[in-house]
Amino acid sequence: TSCVALIVAAGSGERFGGDRPKQYQRLAGRAVLHHTISTFLRHPAVDAVQVVIQPAHRELYDAAVADLALPEPVAGGATRQDSVRLGLERLAALDPVPGFVLIHDAARPLVDDATIQAVRDRLDAVPAAIAAVAVTDTLKRGVAGLIGGTVERAGLWRAQTPQGFRFADILGAHREFAGAELTDDAAVAERAGLEVALVEGNADNLKVTNQDDLARAAMLMNASLL
Ligand code: C5P
Repeated sequence: TSCVALIVAAGSGERFGGDRPKQYQRLAGRAVLHHTISTFLRHPAVDAVQVVIQPAHRELYDAAVADLALPEPVAGGATRQDSVRLGLERLAALDPVPGFVLIHDAARPLVDDATIQAVRDRLDAVPAAIAAVAVTDTLKRGVAGLIGGTVERAGLWRAQTPQGFRFADILGAHREFAGAELTDDAAVAERAGLEVALVEGNADNLKVTNQDDLARAAMLMNASLL
């Protein structure tokens, strides 16, 4: 069964600031999304990679991935959920459609081969599986700068990407719950009543959200930002 990686890169990155959106920032000599895309492109469990971008970023995108062989990018939407759905619709027009899809944030350039493999492998047994990390810090609910309570940490996980699905299942779920403003695809799958497995991921698979994250990513790659 074929497996396609759908990489969403259509965010405007307003929290990041800077001269360009975070997925196009330089990290160890390449754009952030070049790292992300390359890892999926060369992964043996992945048959094809489809990227979703903002049309306004087309020039940045073309410059960033000039050396990679990729299909025409899909135009994303106003929310992450919209961008994923639009990407899934492009894959739905393929003949044959993929058996599995691994949905991943362009802003997670440190995704590793083992995590991709582990998520893909779980899909042989369950319709959906996501990379996640168990919470180790004690969690507090903040109320106007004061602690309003301590949240039981047992059983809590931080959801990451990749998030893998049987293609037909997640396409149907995204169509049914379009506009629900859910922040990950597992939430869309949960809404549709799918069983979603947690796969132990890697804490280094951070999402670049602000400038510090970019510096930390470079440190983890043992490389400079230049
Ligand atoms: O904003 P956030 O960091 O949660 O975005 C996660 C991923 O979703 C990023 O890779 C971003 O480019 C993508 N995204 C998108 N379309 C949007 C918003 C975010 O593809 N409208």
